[in-house]
Amino acid sequence: MSRAASRHTWSNRWAFILVTMGSAVGLGNIWRFPYLAGDSGGSVFVLMYLVCVAVIGLPLLMAEILIGRRGRGNPVAAMLNTAEEAGRSPWWAALGWTGVVGALLILSYYSVVAGWIADYLFQAVTGARAETAAVAAEGFTALTSDPLRMMFWHTVFMILSVGVVARGVVSGIEAANKIMMPSLFLILFLLMLYGAWVGDMPSAVHFLFDFKVEAITPRVVIEGVGQAFFSLSLGMGAIMAYGSYLDRNTGIGGTCLWVAGANTLVGLLSGLAIFSLTYGYGLSPSEGPGLILKTLPLVFSHMPGGRVFGALFFLFVLFAAWTSSISLVEPFVSWLTERLGIHRVKAALVTGVPVWLLGLAVCLSFNHWSDVTIFGRDLFKALEDLTTKLMMPLSGLAIAIYVGWMMGRAVVSDEIRLTHRRFALWFGVLRYVVPIGIVMVFFHVLGLLK
Ligand code: PFF
Repeated sequence: MSRAASRHTWSNRWAFILVTMGSAVGLGNIWRFPYLAGDSGGSVFVLMYLVCVAVIGLPLLMAEILIGRRGRGNPVAAMLNTAEEAGRSPWWAALGWTGVVGALLILSYYSVVAGWIADYLFQAVTGARAETAAVAAEGFTALTSDPLRMMFWHTVFMILSVGVVARGVVSGIEAANKIMMPSLFLILFLLMLYGAWVGDMPSAVHFLFDFKVEAITPRVVIEGVGQAFFSLSLGMGAIMAYGSYLDRNTGIGGTCLWVAGANTLVGLLSGLAIFSLTYGYGLSPSEGPGLILKTLPLVFSHMPGGRVFGALFFLFVLFAAWTSSISLVEPFVSWLTERLGIHRVKAALVTGVPVWLLGLAVCLSFNHWSDVTIFGRDLFKALEDLTTKLMMPLSGLAIAIYVGWMMGRAVVSDEIRLTHRRFALWFGVLRYVVPIGIVMVFFHVLGLLK
């Protein structure tokens, strides 16, 4: 109890909402959401994503925070403590480990993509221009075919992420988030207005929201589910770790609604902005991971004041990526400090170095090592698919079963503190809808369900 009592907490409810939003809102919303929507036929993917956020993501977000706060420790300890309280097997701690390891795997490629953004920020500041679509596309190819350039920015980004975590939870993470989140909202909103003004907003709206049942395929379904997990930072211990610093009096339900709402809004804003501009400039929506980087430099080169706006845009996206990557570093660092008693700074280094090395390999997977494949994918895609389509949904399934069926109704209801009716709804969804939903998705993907 003394450890629980002495554990520091966020300064207030809004600070927690902000840091959790900081984890959720990131490259997933601004880079990944448009690129997957573009590759997976738009509206069906968006529909899957939205349904999954509401029905699976939101209840799981609450469940994960609940475990973290009840267990008052890093994800592994939180699982152990809550399992012990409920008289369950200590093997449940494996779920904490899956999260910790998954978070580090994500970080290895997340940091490389964030490095792209840093490179584009540098280019914007130094006045690089892309007057035509061909030049913009060549710019992206030039970057991804230059491993040293990517490695440089990946290294810079890793130092930034590990640095904040080394400084400590409240001073480092919270302070960083307070400035970055509101700025990002503003710039995305302005970009969307600009998209509506010079671009082709009606085509973007059709692309993202037309209802086309016939286009539902197993691939789109799993992409949508994976994106819901990715964008809400679920199943990877990040939210659990943040929840462990939440004080007992903050309501989890309302907090999660804010986070999920804002997160979805950022994704949609970004999608609308990007596709209005993509269509407005006659570009293709399905450009893969390079979509925003092939589109936006062209847009900024033609926009009045585009150099400043572009620089600010990339700066804020980089901030958003930073606040997310911090939450990917934190689970393992908190395990190292709490379990092994290592100092935070050293723990951050021990975490950062292997991830950085794996990231170097990811940089090579775009060029020299592009023929090296794992299950038919290069290393970047293999890591992305492994974490988002397999590890995250399966962890989510386990979390739903754990909180829904293992922790015990009394403990869960004591911790979540919802009104009777809301609790019944949330708990019912968590016990039945979430597990059945995830299992059905896998059956669908395996072709067992038509
Ligand atoms: N949610 C983040 C994004 O959308 O960019 C990515 C992420 C952060 C995923 C933390 C998982 C995680 F644990």
